[in-house]
Amino acid sequence: MRNNVPAGLSRKELELYSQLDPERLPKHIAIIMDGNGRWAKRRHLPRIAGHKRGVEAVRDVIQTAARIHIPAVTLYAFSVENWKRRPKTEVSFLMALLRTYLKREVPLMNENNIRMEYIGRQHELPPEVQERMEWARQATAKNTGMIMTLALNYGARTELVDAFESIVRSALNNGGLSHLKIDEALINRHLYTSHLPDPDLVIRTSGEMRLSNFLLWQLAYAEIYVTPTLWPDFDGVHLLSAIEEYQKRERRYGGLGSTAHQLP
Ligand code: FPP
Repeated sequence: MRNNVPAGLSRKELELYSQLDPERLPKHIAIIMDGNGRWAKRRHLPRIAGHKRGVEAVRDVIQTAARIHIPAVTLYAFSVENWKRRPKTEVSFLMALLRTYLKREVPLMNENNIRMEYIGRQHELPPEVQERMEWARQATAKNTGMIMTLALNYGARTELVDAFESIVRSALNNGGLSHLKIDEALINRHLYTSHLPDPDLVIRTSGEMRLSNFLLWQLAYAEIYVTPTLWPDFDGVHLLSAIEEYQKRERRYGGLGSTAHQLP
């Protein structure tokens, strides 16, 4: 076994980790957590039981990602559309769950050197949720390891609208629109994700082949991994399998792959 084996992994996780090339781990993994409702339905439980178990999955996955030194993980927890599609009671439950989660997990985050960040229209969330979010951000702000970003009240199109508004506003405050030169770097600086590199890998659980308005700009070249596993059943072992699959893919960024020159 190689040196620098991460501490704290389970036997199965270690077995999978030893198959990986530590030099080619993704720098940023984005995850669409889907299937909490179906997980509960299969067990004849209320949907909220699925969300509760979903939180356990978050804890396991985040801990494993931090242990193997993934620099950033972003989780799609709550989309802007979620408010409209779900019963009010479920939305309130999710908000309460988030508050409890943030309070309870901060010690574990500090133990694992994880910094907490958020993307989305935070100001539209209930004030008590915003307060708890800010508290958790500050309580983990000194950590220098993995950045865990929660997408809350997030939508990629809304993010682009906010970015374009912010570009125009800052141009108007700095000499007017005639000097404005728009390029990709400028747009990147005005996105909610300006603190992050683009994800190299996006994972979606529970089988749907959609991006569902998640990080549309940033996922331009990401490898997509869809698993039928429902989110509450997803864990550190599943995460390592996704990374194994990612390492088998050849990434081209729109160019020719290394074998292209061999084609007739
Ligand atoms: C999708 O399942 C999941 C969500 C909308 C919420 C994700 C939330 C959690 C995992 C728990 C809260 C997270 C944190 C970080 C506290 P679904 O209900 O859409 O499942 P379905 O498609 O099977 O109905």
